[in-house]
Amino acid sequence: MALEKAEKILEGKRVQVRKLNEKFDHTQLLADDEWYPKAVRRSIRPARWNWKDCLARLQEIASDPIPGADRRFIILVHDDTEEATSTAPGALIGMTILNPGEGLKAHRHNSFAIYHVLQGTGFDVMQNEDEPEPTKIEWSKGDTFLCPPWTYHQHVNDGAEQAIILTVQDFPLLAAQRSLMFEEPRGVNNIKAVTKKFVPHRDTAGSFKLDV
Ligand SMILES: [Fe+2]
Repeated sequence: MALEKAEKILEGKRVQVRKLNEKFDHTQLLADDEWYPKAVRRSIRPARWNWKDCLARLQEIASDPIPGADRRFIILVHDDTEEATSTAPGALIGMTILNPGEGLKAHRHNSFAIYHVLQGTGFDVMQNEDEPEPTKIEWSKGDTFLCPPWTYHQHVNDGAEQAIILTVQDFPLLAAQRSLMFEEPRGVNNIKAVTKKFVPHRDTAGSFKLDV
């Protein structure tokens, strides 16, 4: 690239210049014996989340308006995971509750989701970019089904009772890598990296209930 062209890349733009050899304040060099004590996290103690407590919390968020976020979703958090705020290192278990006739708008994320139906009947509509048409997956109590990463999906409760679905996801692993992505609701303009400035469900108000 000619020098004049290289200079034009930044023409008229505000930019911070970091000169050669200038030290970044947020960097350091640690020797091996300094690094391990800082980097190794605490052990994880065995734990249980009581069904009675999960159900009570789910019932609380089954009412309108939904407290705290645009989803009827709870996360089973283990305090030993510290900043990951997950169920186990790298993995999260959540539970969704849907009232009869409720459903999620189509969305996707680059984490996978394994679902297990604890109560109710309904269906999911899923589609990835290689498929010409969506797949409808019907489900009822006891079924386990998968949504692969970056696949559009939406749960729909078409039964007469509340549906409760347990979910296992690798959200925390992707969040730790700062590479968790959401498209919510479906639409290329809604593709966003999850950061402190963009929190899914909270910052995508209206993404929850189907327009039916
Ligand atoms: Fe999802």
